[in-house]
Amino acid sequence: MTAPTTSGLTRSAARAELHAWVSNPALRHHMECVAACMEAYAATLGLSDADRERWFVCGLMHDLDWERHPTKEEHPRVGVAHLRGKGVDDEILDAIMGHAEYTGTPRESAMSKHLFACDELAGFIVACGKVRPDGVQTLEPKSVEKKLKNAAFAAAVSREDIANGLAGIGRTFEDHCGRSIEAIRGVQFQ
Ligand SMILES: [Fe+2]
Repeated sequence: MTAPTTSGLTRSAARAELHAWVSNPALRHHMECVAACMEAYAATLGLSDADRERWFVCGLMHDLDWERHPTKEEHPRVGVAHLRGKGVDDEILDAIMGHAEYTGTPRESAMSKHLFACDELAGFIVACGKVRPDGVQTLEPKSVEKKLKNAAFAAAVSREDIANGLAGIGRTFEDHCGRSIEAIRGVQFQ
């Protein structure tokens, strides 16, 4: 089967959805960070421009319904149903379902595996940046790794999900974390 070349949502249409559904600046920022990490990985994997945009849209939309529908019964099903109505393709929708472990949706595609790998780690990297004077600009994987071992730091972030995500994409922590930090450094957030 040939992968679809369009997500059904352009980057700018996806951002309009984000602004319509999410008012919390921290959540908007998180979604932008995951989108940036996903786009960076699509480039690393040598995917087409159209696929880079699809990976970006996947990252940007993964928590679309989190603010309005945070329960396990609804998140991310409500968002996925909405995105399906907008013509978003199944690969993206499956990846969004798969980032929530409890849906039981298998993470089969590279997109799905990378979304899961980027989600929790991006949140943790942003948390690391918050306690540094220059944010993530000089943050290095070594420092992130040290903080991961401190269970009291950003305690809500699942270390298990980070480890499982890493295993899914077959990279070293240093490599994955370094790439993620670099992508997050470039996030322009208004
Ligand atoms: Fe997320």
